[in-house]
Amino acid sequence: MSKALQGVRVVDMTHVQAGPVCTQMLAWLGADVIKVEPPRRGDVTRSQLRDIPDVDSLYFTMLNSNKRSLTLDIKHERGREILWELLRKSDVLVENFGPGALDRQGITWERLQEEAPRLIYASIKGFGPGSYEQAKAYETIAQAMGGAMSTTGFEDGPPTSTGAQIGDSGSAVHLLAAILAALLQRHQTGRGQRVQIAMQHAVLNLCRVKIRDHQRLQRGPLAEYPNQEFGHAVPRSGNASGGGQPGWALRCRPGGPNDFIYVIIQPHVWDRLLRQIGREDLLQNPAWDTPEARLSHLDDVFATIEAWTSQHTKWEVFEQFNAIDVPCGPVFDTGDIVEDQSLRATGMIVEVEHPQRGSYLNVGSPLRLSDSSVEVRRAPLLGEHSDEVLQEVLGLEPQELEAMHLQGVI
Ligand code: COA
Repeated sequence: MSKALQGVRVVDMTHVQAGPVCTQMLAWLGADVIKVEPPRRGDVTRSQLRDIPDVDSLYFTMLNSNKRSLTLDIKHERGREILWELLRKSDVLVENFGPGALDRQGITWERLQEEAPRLIYASIKGFGPGSYEQAKAYETIAQAMGGAMSTTGFEDGPPTSTGAQIGDSGSAVHLLAAILAALLQRHQTGRGQRVQIAMQHAVLNLCRVKIRDHQRLQRGPLAEYPNQEFGHAVPRSGNASGGGQPGWALRCRPGGPNDFIYVIIQPHVWDRLLRQIGREDLLQNPAWDTPEARLSHLDDVFATIEAWTSQHTKWEVFEQFNAIDVPCGPVFDTGDIVEDQSLRATGMIVEVEHPQRGSYLNVGSPLRLSDSSVEVRRAPLLGEHSDEVLQEVLGLEPQELEAMHLQGVI
């Protein structure tokens, strides 16, 4: 079967998480992703958080599947020449170095337009143009400055980061969308273009509803929030749903740290829900009967449902509430995730063989295209494809490759 991005060559100069997640998705969609890494060391994550000595970390292997690895020292003159040759024969360059890193090597947008006018030059930086432009950024910095951290957690606790990597992987998804749009536009214009995502902007885009609430707050307290006091900014609202229908995480049996189920109360299934939990006595009670009435004592409403959920496991509640069409979701811990049969069966948790570490689990592709299936292949070893890529794409001769190996260029 052909792939959506077959024939698209990507020079992948990404590192850590944000860039690699984007190029991994390009690779899953069928692009030939050539990961350019500094010789000897490679992407810094190869050796970070290692679980097995001297073996590429899971941090690296889980973010770099389906790519080829080319080691190339871009601070060496010959290395830079090779990079330029490669860029002239490629469709997309993706990078997420600190501000100015590629410019310092003479790889500028101006020169790229002259040398490779069809190339799409895509970057992730911490920030957009302006006051913060020169600052480096990591995941949690973007969460802090994009509005996520101040609005996550409980009222009486500190600002909190989320487990979901919305700064890094969230930026990666935004960058993917922008690159695909630029590839499409190139069909009309014949030109590449500069594509940029700032991590702060990506997080802010994901915090859109909190800015909605900030403006609502100017007109009075937010009734659906569990908070009693409101200041000038949107408070942390614990596990409140953030949407138009109230929700909360409710305790289940046997009371472990993740024995919770998240339940949303939709008005049209309220009566069924009361019957299910054995509280028919509250049917047609004016204090409980309408969404507006319940809003003024949501604590009480959820405590009433929890009195029932806490007598059952999260799986039992899930089954019984689904049977009456009440939206809910058990809180999956990481063990639940990797053991889940439907995630395995649908390829969202896949087992991959690796020559150094044996088999490991990877999170599969959530992108489902009926004409472009994804087979997750292991991440490359450092420089595994250097000779192959330079022979195949640039037609370099074996003697030249050998000389470059000796000089440490590749
Ligand atoms: N050969 C030789 N040198 C290479 C190379 C190669 N193939 N690839 C990269 N390098 C060099 C760069 O030229 C640069 O060198 P310089 O600083 O001497 O100019 C260096 O490696 C990378 O610099 P930088 O990206 O600033 O690394 P850092 O470790 O200091 O900072 C980040 C890391 C993540 C903070 C920074 O890259 C950043 O802010 N990136 C943008 C935002 C981002 O993506 N953050 C999230 C990461 S998950």
